[in-house]
Amino acid sequence: MSLTTLRLGPEDISQGASILRRGGLLGIPTETVYGLGADGRNPRAVEAIFAAKGRPQDNPLILHIPGADWLERYCGHIPPQAYALAERFWPGPLTIILKRRPCVPDVVTAGLDTVGMRCPDHPVTRAVIAAAGTPVAAPSGNTSGRPSPTCAAHMLEDMDGKIDGILDGGPCTVGVESTIIDLTAQPPRLLRPGGVSLEALEEVLGPVEVDGAVRRLLAHGEAPRAPGMKYRHYAPQAPVTVVRGAPAAAAAYIRQHCAPGEGVLCFREFTQDYPGCTVRDLGPAGDKAEQARRVFAALRSFDAAPVARIWAQCPDEGELGLAVSNRLNKAAGFHIVEL
Ligand code: TXA
Ligand code: MG
Repeated sequence: MSLTTLRLGPEDISQGASILRRGGLLGIPTETVYGLGADGRNPRAVEAIFAAKGRPQDNPLILHIPGADWLERYCGHIPPQAYALAERFWPGPLTIILKRRPCVPDVVTAGLDTVGMRCPDHPVTRAVIAAAGTPVAAPSGNTSGRPSPTCAAHMLEDMDGKIDGILDGGPCTVGVESTIIDLTAQPPRLLRPGGVSLEALEEVLGPVEVDGAVRRLLAHGEAPRAPGMKYRHYAPQAPVTVVRGAPAAAAAYIRQHCAPGEGVLCFREFTQDYPGCTVRDLGPAGDKAEQARRVFAALRSFDAAPVARIWAQCPDEGELGLAVSNRLNKAAGFHIVEL
């Protein structure tokens, strides 16, 4: 770990790769969110990820690889569905859970017999993985519990001085993390909604079961399939209340209930409706891709503006809306008003 974090540009691939090869920590841009990368074959390097993030030890990491031809190195019993998904969605925002091979360090999988595999769609990160010649273990580059970083500056807010370098690849084009699909379950199970929609997955796989932790708070003692789903997540300091319903009705409800000085995260059509409040634009009500790109930066921005409480509008669950509403609901600890 280093006290000064090197700012690297897209031309500095070989410097980034050498940080990885010598067991250092490197911020990497992906199409979803920035990641906190280390050599996935080096247990010491991977341990340092947990320390820098303050991440619980029982929360496994995913391995980033350059293509499906690396799956066999780290996974066993690979079903044909894995290759069908890779063919359709890789490189791209999809993580596939498969049986691990023994060569994957325990610290990566938190001792599970499965491992998450992802091929990211960002030229800088694909180049640095290829140059390092190693799978890159990387969680999102935020301090544990905070909103994920969607640009290099947001990652540095959390990680400056705790990592060796960061490759700046510009703002993330998807903005929410990868979809996680568990192919070791029958039927396949959606553990986290993300940049690839449930509808698109089902075109390839047929019916997919949505894990309970996606839409609700787990009951006390209930074990989540994705260990990360049990933790409070994506949350600004102030408590968040999500108001679900038709956009105009939700906007009216928030107008009636919010007090001056409180925070409001609303669709673009309603940003003028809350004078005296700290208002953030979630994007147009009809543009879920834009909402996905904006949601983490908006949540993060409330920590710089002291608000006692935050009200949030939320899209319906179709297509990318499932991922956006999951992040908002988790930020709210599933404190949701249904209209
Ligand atoms: O888009 C992304 O996936 C980003 C970028 C950097 O690639 N990465 C990311 O990693 O979001 P992270 O660690 O923040 O989230 C990974 C989630 C966690 O909830 C973890 O518990 C779950 O994936 N996970 C990892 N390995 C797993 C496994 N073998 N079985 C079940 N869940 C797993
Ligand atoms: Mg994360």
